Amino acid sequence: MCGIVGYVGPRDAEEFLLEGLRRLEYRGYDSAGLTTLSPSGRFHVTKTVGRIDALADALVEQPTPGNLGIGHTRWATHGIPSVANAHPHFGGDQVLALAHNGVIENYLSLKEKLLAEGYQFASSTDTEVIAHLIARYLKRLAEEGIEQESDSPYALPIAAVSKALSKLRGTYGLVIVFRDWPDMIVAARQGSPLVVGVGAGEHFVASDASPLAGYADKIVYLADHQIAIVRADKLEVTHRDSGRIEHAVHDLAIEASDVELGGFPHYMLKEIFEQPESLENVMRGRLVDEDATAKFGGLNLTPTDLRHVNRIILTACGTSWHAALVGEYLIEELARIPVEVEYASELRYRNPPVENGTLLFAITQSGETADTLAALREMKRKGHPTLAICNVVGSTIAQEATGGVYLHAGPEIGVASTKAYTSQCATLAMLALHFGRMRHLSFESGKRIIGQLRALPDVIRRTLDLNGEVRRLAGKYCHATNILYLGRQYNFPTALEGALKLKEISYIHAQGYPAAEMKHGPIALVDRETPSVFIMPQGFVYDKVMSNLEEIKARGGPVIAIAAEGDKDVARLADDVIYVPPVEEFLSPLVTIIPLQLFAYHIAVLRGCNVDRPRNLAKSVTVE
Ligand code: F6R
Repeated sequence: MCGIVGYVGPRDAEEFLLEGLRRLEYRGYDSAGLTTLSPSGRFHVTKTVGRIDALADALVEQPTPGNLGIGHTRWATHGIPSVANAHPHFGGDQVLALAHNGVIENYLSLKEKLLAEGYQFASSTDTEVIAHLIARYLKRLAEEGIEQESDSPYALPIAAVSKALSKLRGTYGLVIVFRDWPDMIVAARQGSPLVVGVGAGEHFVASDASPLAGYADKIVYLADHQIAIVRADKLEVTHRDSGRIEHAVHDLAIEASDVELGGFPHYMLKEIFEQPESLENVMRGRLVDEDATAKFGGLNLTPTDLRHVNRIILTACGTSWHAALVGEYLIEELARIPVEVEYASELRYRNPPVENGTLLFAITQSGETADTLAALREMKRKGHPTLAICNVVGSTIAQEATGGVYLHAGPEIGVASTKAYTSQCATLAMLALHFGRMRHLSFESGKRIIGQLRALPDVIRRTLDLNGEVRRLAGKYCHATNILYLGRQYNFPTALEGALKLKEISYIHAQGYPAAEMKHGPIALVDRETPSVFIMPQGFVYDKVMSNLEEIKARGGPVIAIAAEGDKDVARLADDVIYVPPVEEFLSPLVTIIPLQLFAYHIAVLRGCNVDRPRNLAKSVTVE
């Protein structure tokens, strides 16, 4: 949560900072601000409440000239969204400014000490404590004469930053600029992501790679405990404990078009329509015909290790947790390995007995979700192999896992996850195939599964042709106040995910349930005003779901069915039917979710909701 940017080089800093904040707006959007610093050490600061557009308007009146600066878009944790609480915050007597992403847990005790020493606070944020703490050490260390002891002109500010950071408990991604060192930005991280983009004679800092597209062609992923000294023509990285270190420079894999709307009205719709390509990308090079299996380059486990896996834990939050549920069905059916799906927020504080031979997969689009990261760390600490199924390259979870699989879905900017979900499900299907082929699954079955996986992108293309039909249906149901989503087996997770999509972007109350469980309570909710969405492609529970559907109809509830093409029976009972192309049951959740993503999207648009930036949410949940 929160996005931070920094720039130093020959350009007008404001242009990049503003564009970078726009691209990071999905991380938080209740207030924003930026400051530039002139070579003479003068700060130009502009802050606003609301979205980046408000900041852009304010900058017209109050521009921030200069070639070095930092910016921030906020998702409030400490203190209401207000100009005073918006970043950047200043330390000491305006000797430095900084922007922060993360949470400082011990800020109150630090604040008390700083207040007692005479520091004055202008905000109720935890961040301002960091600013004053650095200022305090800057003063103290200068008095002790640290500058004279070192060859580096930056020794004093870096020592002050290191000292201050050692007093913090919590998480931070930080960009800091100093009045008396107006040619550098200091970037530091602990638990919150931070990258540096490398251009020709210029450097960019950001919370993730998306602001860099079109500006830089190389990227450096900072790791925890690292502090970077970023100047126009030089990047130095130091480690809190070991001093100066070599840093790896990677090619930037995203292009400006990946982060643009490309003619779509919203990122969510763009990302829904990108799913045929994102599925092709996640499967590219991973399906092996000769062995009728799937292969993964980054698991970092030997075939023998994998052969001895006798239990798998899938942990995640939100939509990624729903993908984990799909994974449970897939792995248990295709590989016959027992699977447990755990909310990361629960797993991190439980102390379950975990026997040898247990493998943990953390499933996450962003790779930054605090609970998922904590669950992964806890399992790693206990000595279990921990793998990530992750979209964002170089993210914290990707760095900390012992191995894993990248989704290669491209940046997902809409807050509601769509393409990452289907890519997670496809990855889990490939893993199920991989584990299955190491066990009982025959060559023939492996070949058949590969063929079905390969056909999937085209099936999704055909499913997306339903967009117009789904939009009309959305018009019919957009005034509902409650909608139930019901499915069984592979499509029970689809029911949960369809309901989550609707509620998070349209604010309609929606609940996903295993269809047969309805009669144990929730059926009491059914009336003429409460539609139920039945997800019921052909498969071995089809008849059972049909009986559940009859139970709803018998109580007067309107029914929308998501069924397979050719199913005439359902049309006789349901009020509305969306027919999706038929696929084998184990891949059906990847197809049935498409009309539900579109349904949620169109309802939200019809209700005038901000689809890409729903209220109270942020894309990357880096707090507990
Ligand atoms: C819902 C949604 C969230 C995320 C959850 C986990 O559309 O996007 O529920 O799935 O916050 O995020 P990641 O996958 O980044 O760990």
